Amino acid sequence: MEIGMTPSVRQAIMSRIKPRPLAFPKNFIWGFSAAAPQIEGAAFADGKGPSVWDTFSRRSGAVHNGDNLDVACDHYHLYKKDFALMAKLGARHYRLSIAWPRIFPEGTGAVNRKGLDFYKRLLDVMQRRGIAPWVTMFHWDLPQALENRGGWRVRATADAFATYADTIVKAFGDRVKNWITLNEIICFTRHAYGTGQKAPGAKEGEAVVNQTHHTALLAHGHGVRAVREHGGRDARVGLADNPGVPIPVTETERDIIAARTAFINANIRVIDPIYRGYYSAAYRRITGKDAAVCRKKDFDLISMPADFLGQNIYSGYFVRAGKDGRPETLPLPPSYPRTDAPWGAHVPQSIYWGPRHAAEAYGVKCIYITENGAGYNDRPPANGEMHDLHRRDFVRNYLKEVRRGIGDGVPVKGYFLWSFMDNFEWQDGYARRFGVVYCDFKTQKRTPKTSALWYGRVMKENRLV
Ligand code: NOJ
Repeated sequence: MEIGMTPSVRQAIMSRIKPRPLAFPKNFIWGFSAAAPQIEGAAFADGKGPSVWDTFSRRSGAVHNGDNLDVACDHYHLYKKDFALMAKLGARHYRLSIAWPRIFPEGTGAVNRKGLDFYKRLLDVMQRRGIAPWVTMFHWDLPQALENRGGWRVRATADAFATYADTIVKAFGDRVKNWITLNEIICFTRHAYGTGQKAPGAKEGEAVVNQTHHTALLAHGHGVRAVREHGGRDARVGLADNPGVPIPVTETERDIIAARTAFINANIRVIDPIYRGYYSAAYRRITGKDAAVCRKKDFDLISMPADFLGQNIYSGYFVRAGKDGRPETLPLPPSYPRTDAPWGAHVPQSIYWGPRHAAEAYGVKCIYITENGAGYNDRPPANGEMHDLHRRDFVRNYLKEVRRGIGDGVPVKGYFLWSFMDNFEWQDGYARRFGVVYCDFKTQKRTPKTSALWYGRVMKENRLV
């Protein structure tokens, strides 16, 4: 007994503390998320063609520390061990991606059998481990051969994607029921052709950037079409979007309406045309003479109904209704809590408002958090342990907001943590770690961090612990 506390006092205190188990709904999907180019390595093995990232990472100064994707986590050779560990931690779902240049080394033309066979073997091992695959068709590794012919600037890339999507859905449709067309359109269009931060590192004007968005929307449509045509009756498909998430600074009706308006404006090039089936007047106003050139029929494809919307949510920003009711963004103060990623402010409310805005603005009925997680410059484990309590608390805070949303009727049906193990973080190379499993990139030793053991319990118990 605690010093000075009588049993009756203790009982009185305990009766006031209501245990709140924070349970998630039955059938809630829990899993991990990752992408082929960030973990597989074997960048030129078994007939794989170069991707734009293989090329870009060799450009001086493009990627932190001159890191490249050649070996990464060597998952190409170690996948059996990785799935054994993943299953041990309790994962029953895993979002992975297929490397387009493994299947079509030249982007179009001959299919690389060895590429198809690799993924068949991998999917079979997952099945044996009881882990269901959620397969992203495209996670930024455009075949370099297609970039040489214009990349996402040109319609022909959407046509090449259509053939690729048909090919993989036909090849893996018996093993895969959940498909994700594209990952984070903004990142491989605006940040790849506008700001030049990501491969291929181009710096084009707005008209070209808007055109790359449009080509990506066409590819998304083809991904949905391919699943409908070849995926079987129980196959499902959706996009993994990374919406800008404006958060009402107070949860009053005025600020909520302003935040929703800001959400539509922030996502006017991607989600808006997919759900409306056309480019809105606001899109035309914002893009002006730089609007994408499109054909009317394009939108039949672009707006083909999907089964769910995936949202990758890491952060957000606060808005309020100005005097005229219009949204005003409030800057985050410099001391606001952050992860080590420059864009990664710790704003758990973003994962409540992102799905809620999508549901309220577009009537989306089924949403999966296809990514959420925290990037820190973690130190190596000591004595086989790594207490990443910062990451554990980050995820826990976000999951509380997911749970709040579900309680309020927001249709979030699952959550995929980014990421299973530390991996190649694009232009930040291997410095920034997002894994709940520590990866020693020299020895390829995996060490589960505290967050992995904790998240394993969350998944197994289907509640926040
Ligand atoms: C977004 C991307 O989809 C993924 O590839 C990336 O590593 C994580 N978020 C973290 O930045």
